[in-house]
Amino acid sequence: MYDNGGRVTREGIRIHEPGDFAGMHKAGRVAAQILDDIAPHVVPGQSTGEIDRLITEMVATHGATSATIGYRGYQHASCISVNHVVCHGIPGPKALKDGDILNIDVTVIVDGWFGDTSRMYVAGTLGRKAERLIQVTHDALMKGVEAVRPGNTFGDIGHAIQSFVESQRMSVVRDFCGHGLGRVFHAPPNVLHYGRPGREAVLEEGMFFTIEPMVNLGRPETKVLADDWTAVTRDKSLSAQFEHSVGVTADGVDVFTLSPGGLFYPTRR
Ligand code: MF3
Ligand code: CO
Ligand code: CO
Repeated sequence: MYDNGGRVTREGIRIHEPGDFAGMHKAGRVAAQILDDIAPHVVPGQSTGEIDRLITEMVATHGATSATIGYRGYQHASCISVNHVVCHGIPGPKALKDGDILNIDVTVIVDGWFGDTSRMYVAGTLGRKAERLIQVTHDALMKGVEAVRPGNTFGDIGHAIQSFVESQRMSVVRDFCGHGLGRVFHAPPNVLHYGRPGREAVLEEGMFFTIEPMVNLGRPETKVLADDWTAVTRDKSLSAQFEHSVGVTADGVDVFTLSPGGLFYPTRR
């Protein structure tokens, strides 16, 4: 646990000060602006490695630092997860094909604060099943965000996401979760995208964390490839994810990673 004063709950969750929200807004906005600016570059024929190279440049242009380069040996400024890749896809030379759907996940550090967000993109033509998956995943994230207020619990967030996704006959990935963040990348709690009302820690004003549900068209099981990063659906079904970094306010939620251009969903330009 890092210690710069302030309070930490018995679950190890840091309670931030009112003045800390401004730092998270600045970091979150830079990450969201990069996701806006990359949209026109997501086209058939483009490689995910080139998209990541552009993101690396954008991070520098903002005077920010990539949180992922050097994180546990990871070497890129983004994770790019195409089609049946659930998360942590490694950018590389493979070109996008018409109809590919992909999540781009960027985390930056600005003045010591972490901004972590991801969205779905499509290269070319969006297929009907993929469109429904992406819409359900976006709406699932927003149902989770709407459950954020003091007095609710992390189980309420997970339940809001899981019950909606399963009502749409899709499945929530269990193997990866959201996380506390702030002046660190990954902190308590684990923010599960499934759960039961009233379970887990109680939300308090000043908690900062991500909500980042991964939703599969098929079964929820995943496996990690031999590169030790790329997580894929075991049944090879399509997977989608959206992520916001949020803070708990006195009466609700503050979303730090709103798209400056209104491009969070749909992500097109
Ligand atoms: N941004 C991811 C998250 O949402 C973490 C990526 S870690 C990396 O928590 F090393 F794979 F980049
Ligand atoms: Co995250
Ligand atoms: Co992320």
